[in-house]
Amino acid sequence: MHNLIVTIDGPAGVGKSTMAKRLARELGIPYLDTGAMFRSIAWKLGEGAWEWDESRIEAALAEFDYTLSGIGEESILSLNGTPIGDEIRTEQVGMWASNVATLPVVRSFLKTAQQSLGARFSLVAEGRDMGTVIFPDAPNKFFLDASVEERANRRCHQLERLGKPADLEELKEQIAKRDHQDRNRAVAPLKAADDATTIDTTELSKDQVFEALVAGVKAS
Ligand code: C5P
Repeated sequence: MHNLIVTIDGPAGVGKSTMAKRLARELGIPYLDTGAMFRSIAWKLGEGAWEWDESRIEAALAEFDYTLSGIGEESILSLNGTPIGDEIRTEQVGMWASNVATLPVVRSFLKTAQQSLGARFSLVAEGRDMGTVIFPDAPNKFFLDASVEERANRRCHQLERLGKPADLEELKEQIAKRDHQDRNRAVAPLKAADDATTIDTTELSKDQVFEALVAGVKAS
């Protein structure tokens, strides 16, 4: 039997991870945070790695092995046996990730890693190119969108709740810059697959987005 793959793509801060975890729990399958894969590469290789020679990056990536365990919110993505932690969850590492994500050598390495996880597990896979490039045959594809203002607001509240107050205008700028790079890169740019269901979440509550996803999966 084929694994069930549900893809959720969309821009930074739109709520993909929250929804992917919840939907994965509902379906009793793991969720795959592919942004964490790009972030962990950027974090491990360090600032400026996107300017290295391709062969140096390729050699470094040969040492990277990703594994996945658990279900729903309890899904754990590990790099070389160690769960990927919160050190990658800053806007700065997000921007580094966006920089390494422009490199064909990195995308092709992660494409293999992501597809091999999809061959082993049913997945709710979230990222930027899940429906377009990595799992083009997935039966359920979603593209979540929201205005930059709304996404910056959400991120700001999330950071406040974590006791890390942030500057709203700065967040807006960072998110817009990362979006621009993600949408305009040559390889696997951020866009909705032709057969994806797009949900504009700007005016929707989390429960409403979740219900739309569940209804979409049930309908297929
Ligand atoms: O989703 P997250 O903010 O963690 O992603 C970090 C960066 O990784 C994105 O801005 C994007 O450049 C890159 N990414 C990607 N393709 C994916 C997932 C993330 O290019 N499938």
